[in-house]
Amino acid sequence: MLDIQDLKVSVEQKEVLQWVSLQCAPGQNYCILGKNGSGKSSLAMTVMGHPSYEVSGGTITLDGEDILEMEPDERAQAGIFLAFQSIPEVKGVKLFEFLRTIYNARWEKKESFVSFKKIIIPHMEELGIDKEFLWRDLNVWFSGWERRKIEILQLKILEPKYILLDEVDSGLDVDAFRSVATLLQQVNNDDNTFIVITHYFAILEYLEIDKVYVLQDGQIVREWGKEVADEIQAEGFGE
Ligand SMILES: Nc1ncnc2c1ncn2[C@@H]1O[C@H](COP(=O)(O)OP(=O)(O)O)[C@@H](O)[C@H]1O
Ligand SMILES: [Mg+2]
Repeated sequence: MLDIQDLKVSVEQKEVLQWVSLQCAPGQNYCILGKNGSGKSSLAMTVMGHPSYEVSGGTITLDGEDILEMEPDERAQAGIFLAFQSIPEVKGVKLFEFLRTIYNARWEKKESFVSFKKIIIPHMEELGIDKEFLWRDLNVWFSGWERRKIEILQLKILEPKYILLDEVDSGLDVDAFRSVATLLQQVNNDDNTFIVITHYFAILEYLEIDKVYVLQDGQIVREWGKEVADEIQAEGFGE
């Protein structure tokens, strides 16, 4: 269980979240809806441990353990993953070395160049990612769609339990969006929990949502159960 209680967060002296409480159970999926500027990315960044987001109240626990004192890499190792709203480029870090490093850290392994190549290439083939990408700098000159595919590749090798998707549907054309949503649908299973942050409902057609939280001005103003989630999935959100 990822349990957020009465969370209060500020960034650059600006209060961005107040009294935010939400509970995410293993194997269920959640949606966080909210307009631009409502605090969705701030919530995702805070859960992942971005140092600019200062927690001034409340708690975040993962299976009963306080994660607020943990570094982002420790949170990742504990099974939390954040798909960024805008995915950063990292010059000077080859995709291969990045993937090998996170894989070895996650599973406490020491896969070599040769042995990790054998692990990663079948996943890339499955996702239709050209092997040449391995020797390029991480995300540098990758298209939006390619960056998302690299994130899905990370999901495949890290097998995180709690996956925050921060507007992964934005900035993709219709075909790219469909492909991303289909791949995410394939990664979603009874052992992981997707927390889908969006203001665009199309992605909900691909993922079964158990509960919807509506965020407004940094606060959860509404919670909807499965029936409403199903209704939104079936009919859209008054669009
Ligand atoms: N790093 C930051 N520095 C300054 N202000 C920020 C920062 N991150 C978020 N904010 C502000 O916090 C509010 C919530 O932003 P955000 O969490 O990005 O909303 P959303 O993802 O829902 O669009 C906005 O007013 C935004 O300008
Ligand atoms: Mg955002």
